[in-house]
This record gives sequence, C-alpha cells and structure tokens, in this order.
Amino acid sequence: MLDVSRTADADATILSQLLEAWPNYVSGSSIARRLGITRVSVWGRLEKLKESGFVFEAVRNRGYRLLERPEQLHVSLVRALLERRKQTVDLLYLPVVDSTNDEAERQLAQGCGTPMVVLARRQERGRGRLGRRWHSADHGNLYLSFAFRPRMEPSKLQRFTPWMGVRLAELLRERCAAPIQVKWPNDLYCQGKKLAGMLTEARVDADGTRDLVFGLGLNVNSDPADWPDEVAAVAASLQTVSGQAQDINELAAAVIEVVVEGYQEVLNAQADALLPERWRRLDMLSDREVVIERGNKTRLEGWARGIDPGGALLVEFATGGVQPVLAGDVVLPRRD
Ligand code: BTN
Repeated sequence: MLDVSRTADADATILSQLLEAWPNYVSGSSIARRLGITRVSVWGRLEKLKESGFVFEAVRNRGYRLLERPEQLHVSLVRALLERRKQTVDLLYLPVVDSTNDEAERQLAQGCGTPMVVLARRQERGRGRLGRRWHSADHGNLYLSFAFRPRMEPSKLQRFTPWMGVRLAELLRERCAAPIQVKWPNDLYCQGKKLAGMLTEARVDADGTRDLVFGLGLNVNSDPADWPDEVAAVAASLQTVSGQAQDINELAAAVIEVVVEGYQEVLNAQADALLPERWRRLDMLSDREVVIERGNKTRLEGWARGIDPGGALLVEFATGGVQPVLAGDVVLPRRD
C-alpha cells in the first residue's frame, strides 16, 4: 500500500499547528482556514487521529490542544515534527515493504526528488551487509532509508558511513544517556550488543557517483524476548540499554535531521577533518586486538588504532607500521 499523500498531508499540518501552539490552544477555525476545509471536517480529522492514539482537549471558545501522542510510529506526526525542525525532506511511509533500501532505489530510478526518506514499520526482506538478513519485525523499531544524488567522487564515499555513525551515536547518547559506541565499519553498539546497522549502497558510473542510498535499522522500543534467539544473543534495543521507552516519532524526526545534515557535511568536506577525533571518542575497537575477515577468506590480525579522515580503519600489525584497511568484517578474538 503506497502512501500517496506525502506532499499534502493535512493531518501533518494540523499536528504541526497544535505542536507549535503548545501549551496554548488552536481554534478550529484557524485550522480550518489553513487547510481550506470546514470546522466540521477538522473535528472529523481529529476524531480519526484519536483512533491512532492521539488525545486532544477541546475547550469551547479556545479550541484544541494536543495532550497525548501515539506510541507507535505515525507518519503525519513525524512530518509535523520535521516541519517544526524546518526540515523539508520528502518522506514516504510504507507500513510494510520488502526493504526500505530497495524502495529508495526504486524511487531514485523513477526520478524522485532528493533527499528523500523511505520509512517502514516492517520489512519483509530487510538486508544487512554481505547479503545478511536484517530482522525487521513490527515491534517498535526504525527501518528507514535515505535517497541522495551526491555530486561526489566515488573515492570519497568511504567516509560516508563512519560519519553517519558518529552523528547518530552522538544523537543517541544525548537522547538516551547510554554509552553508545561506533564499531567500524557500519554498526552502533552499546554494552557489547548491536543496536543499529547501516547499509550504504551507491551506484557509480563513468561520470562519478550517480546516486546513494543510506539505510538504517535501529532497535528502539522492541523487547529482545520477541526476537529470534540468535538475534537476542547479540543485539539490544535503546529501551533495554537506557531503561526507558523512547518517543519513536521524535526519534525518527531527529534521526532524519541528523542524517540529512551529516550528508551535507560529507558533501562539503566539513566531515573530513572532524572524523578521526569524533570517531575516537566513540570507538568500540579503540586499541583492541582485532581480526579482520574478508570475503576472499583472508584474515588480517592486529590492533585497531582508530580511523583516518577517509574512513579507513587504521590497523597496527605485529610486523610494525599502521596500515589503512578499506573493507572487511571486524571480529574481536576471544581470549579465554
Ligand atoms: C548491517 O548491520 O549489516 C546493516 C543493516 C542495515 C539494515 C537497514 S534496515 C533499513 C534498511 N533497509 C534494509 O533492507 N537494510 C537497511
């Protein structure tokens, strides 16, 4: 089911007015005027919104006030929150999708404007790196992908995912007061368990980078008891690490803002100089012994020494000398 109302979302306009006015009331006639509909239609829309978990207070001669918001993802509320943040990104919401990365690619192929965000409540074929599956049940997590058309040399793309990791980890630390870390190349961890994975996919041709899709899967309010055992053994949610349920709609808007800002910072090269130091403060692998596994079964062993401005992992080998490693999967060896 396609959300066709992504540019003209009347509910988002109503919610945005109510959020802006808080703690004051907004009159039914002012909402009606803004939308070009009758006051009765405004009342009807508010009644419909109540079914999704919104609670409004209505006071005669004053108007309406928003008292409670839904716990579940609600796209009009995310749009209203983005409007409050002055973010004009186009947001496509799908309750169920194969993969938000695949949908973002389809949107790019159809010539969508950018930046564009695809947000889903559930994915049926959520993908991770190296063809792995991303468990994507409907349990209060975020699955979203960003479609961009960067004018960027393909060699500069390597820094994109690490910079997003830094920006997102900083955001989540601020919101959740939990010691969230980055793990090269594409993960966010907390207390040794994976909280989020990022999947950046670019199409490159002779003229440079044609387009770029950045996907993020973030475990927010889901309960590991509902996950398959193999996922629960290695993953955590923001709720489990912070002890508090997160407002998923506020979080979605904040994540979208940070990724769109972070994209600009990579594009205008602002991220380059800042990346190594900001990464160092959050680095889960810092000075740890690591094994880097690569697709062709080669293994590199050494000590992780942060990342360089281009986003490559710096590894010190026993033979001496620090070398940049561009690709691979990092495993922490068990020392029993
Ligand atoms: C990884 O850890 O290997 C990356 C996982 C990325 C998962 C996200 S969920 C939203 C987007 N859509 C996908 O199919 N994958 C990414």
